[in-house]
Amino acid sequence: MAINAFIFDLDGVLTDTAEYHYLAWSALANELAVPFDRDDNEQLKGVDRMGSLDYILKKGNVNLTEQQKLTLADKKNLHYQQLINDMSPKDLFEGVTELFAQLKQQNINIGLASASKNAQMVLERLGIADQFDYVADAAKVAQGKPHPEIFLTVAEAFFLPADQCVGIEDSIAGLQSIVSAKMHSVGIGQPEVLYQADVVYADIKSFNLQQVLALA
Ligand code: G6P
Ligand code: MG
Repeated sequence: MAINAFIFDLDGVLTDTAEYHYLAWSALANELAVPFDRDDNEQLKGVDRMGSLDYILKKGNVNLTEQQKLTLADKKNLHYQQLINDMSPKDLFEGVTELFAQLKQQNINIGLASASKNAQMVLERLGIADQFDYVADAAKVAQGKPHPEIFLTVAEAFFLPADQCVGIEDSIAGLQSIVSAKMHSVGIGQPEVLYQADVVYADIKSFNLQQVLALA
């Protein structure tokens, strides 16, 4: 069966916003005097805003009211939005434009499955908002990654079964989501971290389209 859709994560796959999320969470953790390093951050990639905050609070044994949590989540988000404010098309990872062009040439749908409520803004800053056939609305996803819901939502929008879709992710939680959705999976990053993926590339510019199409 042929592959008819590529469903991309955004942060850390198409652009370096994973680093901005890390910077904003580590600033907040620092304020709360909770130790937070890159291994912790690996666990947070792909995890939604409140889930990420809960991880940090739990790690530091910090107990807060819902209202206090919302205030901290807003604070992190404002910091993140400041960091992405100056983004432009030059921040698109190398190879994305070429890969999208190849997919379009082969009539393969391009979808986005990002847990970020800032995804639309980032797509616009990068100048690629109009490249997608479907963008999942993170605000409407009931169960975040590692649950398969967000990837399945995009496949349903394309009227495609999961085995005709490839999910592309840089996060452990996101890959779990793709695997649970029973889609083909591509990891972007380190194979030791993303061992669940069918194939792993260091970055998008190393993507081998023929190899991925042969997964089906
Ligand atoms: C993505 C990122 C996470 C981030 C989440 C929510 O999944 O990988 O690091 O926490 O989106 O992002 P948001 O912009 O809605 O806070
Ligand atoms: Mg990501």
